[in-house]
Amino acid sequence: MQDGVSLRTSVGKVELGLPGMVASGVMDETGASMVRMFGCGAGAVVSKSVGLQPNPGHSNPCLLEVCGGYVNAMGLPNPGIEEFRAEMEQAVPAGPVIGSIYGAGPDDFSELAGRMEDYGATAVELNLSCPHAKGFGMEVGTDPRMVGDIVSAVKSAVDIPVWAKLTPNTHILQDIGRAVQDAGGDAVVAINTLKAMVISPEFARPVLSNGFCGLSGNGIRPVGVRAVYDLRTVLDIPIVGVGGISCWRDAAEYIMAGASAFQIGSAIGTVGIDVFEQVNDGLRSFMEEYGYRDISSMVGAAHE
Ligand SMILES: Cc1cc2nc3c(=O)[nH]c(=O)nc-3n(C[C@H](O)[C@H](O)[C@H](O)COP(=O)(O)O)c2cc1C
Repeated sequence: MQDGVSLRTSVGKVELGLPGMVASGVMDETGASMVRMFGCGAGAVVSKSVGLQPNPGHSNPCLLEVCGGYVNAMGLPNPGIEEFRAEMEQAVPAGPVIGSIYGAGPDDFSELAGRMEDYGATAVELNLSCPHAKGFGMEVGTDPRMVGDIVSAVKSAVDIPVWAKLTPNTHILQDIGRAVQDAGGDAVVAINTLKAMVISPEFARPVLSNGFCGLSGNGIRPVGVRAVYDLRTVLDIPIVGVGGISCWRDAAEYIMAGASAFQIGSAIGTVGIDVFEQVNDGLRSFMEEYGYRDISSMVGAAHE
C-alpha cells in the first residue's frame, strides 16, 4: 500500500492481495518453485499443466530463446495428477494455487479438476490452448461446442472456480469466450502462446524437435492485449491477461484492455524472479500519479 493505493484485486470469487500470477509452465512445476514465487511478489501461482498420466513431453531441443522471448514445444511434460499431489501439498499452504490441467475431453478435465480441488487448489485453469500437444490444448480449445461441453462438465464436477485459458490461434476467439461464459465458466485467461516455427537454414529443418512450437514473451503482447480487449467487449465474466508482460506498463495495458489480473511467464526468465516486485512498484507509482486508487478503477479504462 502506498498513500492509499491498493493493488488488491479479485477474479470473480478469487481474492488476490497482488494482481500478478505466475503463468502456467514457468517456475511452477514443483512445490518448492511455487513456494519460492510467493516470496517474490506474486499474488498467486498457476501450476504447470497436469494430465491424468505421467508425460515425458517432447524430446530436446524443446526451448529456444528468440528475439523478445522464447519458442517452446515442451509437449506438456508432467508427472501426472497422482504424483502432483505432493507438489500441491507443499505449495498450497504458501498461497493461492490455481491448478492447471489438460485433457482430451470433458471426462478427463472433470476428473483432473476434482483431484485439484481435493489437493486444495483455489481454482482450476483449463488449458484449452497449448499449440504443440497433439489431441490436447488448442486442438480441443478452438471448437466452441467442445469448449462449452468441457466447461459445463467441470462446473458440475467441482465447487471451486473454473477458469478457461484460451488460444490466440483462432479467428473465433469471441465465440469461444462466449462458450465459456454460457457454460458457467468463472473467468477466461488470455492468451496462451502463438503457434510458431523456427527453421535452421544450415540443417534445412525446424530447430525444435516437434517442428511446431509456441511463441511467448514481449513480441506477443499486442496480440494478447487485443485478445483481452475483444473478449471484454462481449463477456461479463472476469478476464485474466497474459502474454509478454515484463514491466508495469505491460501489465497496465492488459488491465486497461479489461483484465482484472495478469500472469507473467517468460519474463521470469528474461527479467528474473524479481519481475513481480518491479511490476508491483511501477504500478503503485503510476496509479498514485494518475489518480487510480485501486486496480478495479483501471480495469477496462481503454474502452471508455
Ligand atoms: C516454457 C513454457 C512452458 C509453458 N507451459 C505451459 C503449460 O504447461 N500450460 C499452459 O497453459 N501454458 C503454458 N505456457 C504458456 C504460458 O503460461 C503463457 O500463456 C505464455 O507463455 C504467454 O505468456 P508470457 O509471454 O508471459 O510467457 C508455457 C510457456 C512457456 C514459455
